[in-house]
Amino acid sequence: MATPKRDAAAEQLTQQSKKHQVDKDVITANWGTAVAGKDASLTVGYNGPILLQDYTLIDEIAHFTRERIPERVVHAKGAGAFGYFEVTHDISQYSAAKVFSEIGKKTPIAVRFSQVAGELGYADTVRDIRGFAIKFYTDEGIWDLVGNNQPVFFVKDCALFPSFIHVVKRNPATHLRPDYDMFWDMVTLRAETTHTTMIFFGDRGIPASYRKMHGFGTNTYAFVNAEGKFFYCKFHHVCQQRKKCFIQDEEAQRIAGIDPDYHTRDLYNAIENGDYPAWNMYVQIMTPEQAAASPYDPFDDTKVWLRSEYPLIPVGRFVLNKNPNNYFAQIEQIGFDPAHLVPGIEPSPDRMLQGRLFAYGDTHRYRLGPNYLQFPVNRPFKVTNFSRDGDATYHSQGGSPNYHPNSFGGPEVDKRARNLAPVLPLHGEAKRVDNGNDDNFTQPRMLYQRVMKPDERGRLIQNIVSWLKPTRVDLQERAIQMFSNVDADLGQRIKTGLNTSQYVQL
Ligand code: HEM
Repeated sequence: MATPKRDAAAEQLTQQSKKHQVDKDVITANWGTAVAGKDASLTVGYNGPILLQDYTLIDEIAHFTRERIPERVVHAKGAGAFGYFEVTHDISQYSAAKVFSEIGKKTPIAVRFSQVAGELGYADTVRDIRGFAIKFYTDEGIWDLVGNNQPVFFVKDCALFPSFIHVVKRNPATHLRPDYDMFWDMVTLRAETTHTTMIFFGDRGIPASYRKMHGFGTNTYAFVNAEGKFFYCKFHHVCQQRKKCFIQDEEAQRIAGIDPDYHTRDLYNAIENGDYPAWNMYVQIMTPEQAAASPYDPFDDTKVWLRSEYPLIPVGRFVLNKNPNNYFAQIEQIGFDPAHLVPGIEPSPDRMLQGRLFAYGDTHRYRLGPNYLQFPVNRPFKVTNFSRDGDATYHSQGGSPNYHPNSFGGPEVDKRARNLAPVLPLHGEAKRVDNGNDDNFTQPRMLYQRVMKPDERGRLIQNIVSWLKPTRVDLQERAIQMFSNVDADLGQRIKTGLNTSQYVQL
């Protein structure tokens, strides 16, 4: 019987076996010794018990029972690949980071795409935000730019992040998701969610592929140039493949049933076939003076910076041209952290970013262990410091002293890094200011009235209605009010849709 034409992912083992035909390996125990047999355990006679001295068997089973580590608390389902970032434009006037130092300079990168709410085995083609995380292996250490495929996020203060994630995950009693009451309750209690909720239910809500979506740093960062001048910035990754989304939920749902790993397969096959996905990187720049005078909070991640005021400045491009050869080692164990910054790139006061500076290192030390930065996929080119030991230590710093200060030639503070560290003139009272009501409707209104075409508006309303229909009537009313604050027509059409729609999304 002829085998139908198969894709690169299906051919993986066949291709692998070709490489091994010349030099066939022997089976070894995990400590490298050749094993005496693999098809049977060591027993006393034909039906006798297994001997404890079958230590190669015990080693394999004991390793197997430890194969799983905690999945990521968010963004558990994902796929990744490797490639390079290349500078195409000079932005040294804004940042002294060496990754941008000269046109043509290439830096190796790893990228992981993900969806936010589902677990490790969840279907790819669901309505959700997608993660877009890039690890730059720069000459001066790791820079992780951990963003999403949306320019804005649902909430703007990290104090609300765990709760928001809870409402898009499983109901703790029923273990079901989505729980429409939880979702709409929190969304309508915090109007700052309006902007991202409209993108979530719009055409960009279900990308057709990880390769076919734009990426955003989403949070506001800062740059420092060689003169110590400070700028705020936002990152944009403009997709070079034809951007495409599933605009009909039904098609995405059908694919989710047939091939839950649709996005993962698509990325793997494209790279294996030499169809390397690429993005152009841009930044928006705001001076501290412009930030102080801005009519909207430039550190509020529920808002975009208007491109008419802060145009996209080209920086470089990145290309993914290599698949992982071991998903667990290279993608499951990759650890991105917004606090992994290099001299010339700094955090801003963005409250979400500030919370993230703590969260990722904390979760990695739990999920991957205290020495996760020594794993091949996470390690920088060079580490010279005073950290030693701990679970799974690989890196040796030779006989160099493990304390500072010392008189024995240990590493010293780099003058460049010291000079580039910004001096922030901070002042103010320490207090909790709820900024949740800072003009949450102007930008969603612009999105609805000026950016969305009439057919997109229709689909937005249809998607909102299908998620609102199963929720309680009082929550529906709160949602109608929230969307009416964006645009009276939007609120009215959702109301009409709720009164007439037969379609219930479950
Ligand atoms: C205070 C707010 C936030 C907290 C506490 C938080 C926390 C986390 C945690 C704990 C993980 C799992 C990391 C791991 O186990 O490897 C994660 C992953 C991720 N987060 Fe956040 N997050 C926050 C906001 C955001 C925002 C605003 C964005 C987008 C700009 C974002 C993008 C991502 C991405 C892309 C990943 C997946 C990284 C990967 O591919 O490994 N997060 N986040």
